[in-house]
Amino acid sequence: MFTTFRGGQSGAWRVTLNSPVKGEGFASVPALAITQSASIALPILPSATAWRLVGVAGHVRYVEKTEKEQLAEKQAALGRKEATCAALIPIRKSAAWWELAQDERREIFEAKSQHIASSLKYLPQIARQLFHCRDLGEPFDFLTWFEYAPEHAAEFEELVAMLRATEEWKFVEREVDVRLQLME
Ligand code: HEM
Repeated sequence: MFTTFRGGQSGAWRVTLNSPVKGEGFASVPALAITQSASIALPILPSATAWRLVGVAGHVRYVEKTEKEQLAEKQAALGRKEATCAALIPIRKSAAWWELAQDERREIFEAKSQHIASSLKYLPQIARQLFHCRDLGEPFDFLTWFEYAPEHAAEFEELVAMLRATEEWKFVEREVDVRLQLME
């Protein structure tokens, strides 16, 4: 199943912030639409007024058994009615990251950066879904998506700041931060 995020004139989410964190950003758009499809749509031509990102919510790569259990126990589903704030943070990592072996990447991701251990405390307030797109020929490796209620917005900022200061983030070569609000 492919998930498409289309920034443009219409969609259920209103764009409240569209900010390049590292590297090139996106054209400014008022709305974001999310669609699911069984086959990958033909790429539309890049436009000055719209953009499109595709990813697949596939299986996990690094999670170990106890972490999987902890996540399953704490995590919330997407689509909660109180979660009217969202973030779409597409990320591409460097060639140096992808040249590492799986165990070396896991070491940086968790032993050195505690991506899972430090993030668990933000569950269930922040609901999340990771989409992979590196092997689809997309401009990013990952599309990360988060949903939370307005009263947890400050916690989300704390979480993002914490992750951006980790060893893992030294390998991030492009990152865009798009924040959204569910339309009435
Ligand atoms: C809400 C708290 C969070 C939790 C519990 C969490 C948990 C996880 C887990 C378990 C994975 C590994 C998936 C796998 O095994 O393949 C992962 C990967 C990832 N997360 Fe998070 N995460 C959180 C927040 C964030 C945030 C805020 C960002 C972005 C700013 C982010 C960016 C990523 C990226 C880019 C990956 C893929 C890393 C890679 O495969 O190289 N995460 N996260």
